[in-house]
Amino acid sequence: MAVDPSPIPEIPWNRPSLGDDEITEVVDTLRSGWLTHGPKAAAFEDAVRTDLGAEDAFAVTSCTAALHLALLAAGVGPGDEVITPSLTFCAAANAIRQVGARPVFVDVEPTTHNLSPELTEKAVTARTKAVIVMHYGGHPCDLRRFRTLADDRGLLLVEDAAHALLARRDGLRAGSVGDLSTFSFYANKVITTGEGGMLVGRADLVRKARLLGRHGIDSSVWQRHTERRTADYDVAVPGLKYVMSDLAGAVGLRQWHRLADFTARRAEIADIYSRALRALPGLSTPKVLPDTEPGWFLYSIFIDAGYAPVDRDEVAYRLRTEHCISTSRHFRPVHTLRAFADEDNPRLPVTEVVAARQLSLPCYPAMTDDQVQRVIDALRVIWGNRMVP
Ligand SMILES: Cc1ncc(COP(=O)(O)O)c(C=O)c1O
Repeated sequence: MAVDPSPIPEIPWNRPSLGDDEITEVVDTLRSGWLTHGPKAAAFEDAVRTDLGAEDAFAVTSCTAALHLALLAAGVGPGDEVITPSLTFCAAANAIRQVGARPVFVDVEPTTHNLSPELTEKAVTARTKAVIVMHYGGHPCDLRRFRTLADDRGLLLVEDAAHALLARRDGLRAGSVGDLSTFSFYANKVITTGEGGMLVGRADLVRKARLLGRHGIDSSVWQRHTERRTADYDVAVPGLKYVMSDLAGAVGLRQWHRLADFTARRAEIADIYSRALRALPGLSTPKVLPDTEPGWFLYSIFIDAGYAPVDRDEVAYRLRTEHCISTSRHFRPVHTLRAFADEDNPRLPVTEVVAARQLSLPCYPAMTDDQVQRVIDALRVIWGNRMVP
């Protein structure tokens, strides 16, 4: 009887790195009997705040919650416009709509795929209240220019730093320049708590966000349990419930200590890919600007079907079906999603071209060198071993 050849082991697009430290910290939390926002979430907030040199930090249930709170705390609401890229996840646009404001989508730069400062400046109107920038794939946007623009025009600057937990440009750390910045610890992010996020930035705004994020109650349940020794509370403003649990905080604290190592390994893999793949015709690799250290949440390739032997979707299909390698796409532009498709939306030519060509390859610390090589070899096979000299 013929024996099936052994199946090729799958290389997932992403896999988190969780070890004994995280497990020990979670078990410790479970044994402590305190599961909601308390000492572990507070220690995680302290670690992030100190690292970034931020005035304050509030650990929440997701980056989306952090974005929602950022806008609420800054008083963004009906009648206001908020400028944001379309080449991103829907979270910022959803938060803008949830506070009753209007997202104004602006095109990205062709090199970094970040919001273009020139086009942003042109899009500012008397109704513009805020700009939410995003660091695409972990490559920081032009933080200096956006800070100056926000200061000159009296706008709130929010950094959606979901992809850039540890990244720098021109000596500035991503997440440390906006009036407020948001991080994601979703399951596929550079560090994870399963679901989770952090809001950091100006003390006055984070204080308001903290109040809003715990029902509008002026004390945390941990404070009432420990310092105050009372069950009494008052609700100062109508709020929401967005606090991070101590179980998630325990994981986040340990993961945060590993962030530098994780980022270094991602950078190493990105370098191996870039050296090997730039020889494939019609395929381009991510550009890194001078004086920049990206966070490498994504390793993107861009396939120009006019020059490559295959188009982006066929590459993804063949990687999956012939080589057991999963990929992802970042992103379907928000202005093309049903909830945001609007006749008034401008054409965003760079966003549309990038979205049609981009493919995210597996790039994470749990990958072995052999797996990285398998991805490279698979792409070479798909290209029919055609290389530019
Ligand atoms: C740029 C960006 N912002 C925000 C989010 C939302 O993060 P969360 O799932 O933590 O709400 C994501 C999620 O993938 C993202 O890519």
